[in-house]
Amino acid sequence: MKQIILLLALFLGTNLVADIQKGKAVYAANCAICHTVNGGSALGADFNIVSYTRTKEDIEAYIKDPYSMYEKFGYSANAMPTLPLEDEEFRDVTDYIDSLQPFKEWMKKKKM
Ligand code: HEC
Repeated sequence: MKQIILLLALFLGTNLVADIQKGKAVYAANCAICHTVNGGSALGADFNIVSYTRTKEDIEAYIKDPYSMYEKFGYSANAMPTLPLEDEEFRDVTDYIDSLQPFKEWMKKKKM
C-alpha cells in the first residue's frame, strides 16, 4: 500500500512539472510579445510581479477574460485581447505564472 501511494505521489509530481513546462511554451507563443518574466518593460505587467501580487484564481480569470477583470485589477482600460486558447492551455500558463514566485503562499491565503 505504501508503495502505491509513493508511486502516485511521484506521478502527480511529474505531472505538475510537465504542466509548468507546457505553460512556459504557451507563454512563449502567446504572451511574450506583451509580457516579460524576470524584469524588463513591455505593454503588460511582468509575470514575476503578477505571480507575487495576485492569487492563482484571479490570474486564471484574467487570462481567460481580461475584459471582465480589468476593473477589479485596477486598470482604467483593457488593452489585452481575449486569447483563443484551450482550457488546458489557460490552466498550464496559469500554473507557470503561479510557479514563478513560490514563496508567497502566506500572502495568497489572505486574499488581497
Ligand atoms: C497584445 C498584448 C498582450 C498579450 C498578447 C497578452 N497580454 Fe496580458 N496584458 C496586456 C495588457 C496591456 C495588460 C494590462 C491590462 C489590460 O489592458 O487588460 C495585461 C494584463 C495581464 C494580466 C493582469 C496583470 C496584473 O496583475 O495586473 C495578466 C495576468 C495577463 N495579462 C496575462 C497574460 C497571459 C498569460 C497572456 C498569454 C496567454 C497574455 N497576458 C497576453 C497585454 C497583453
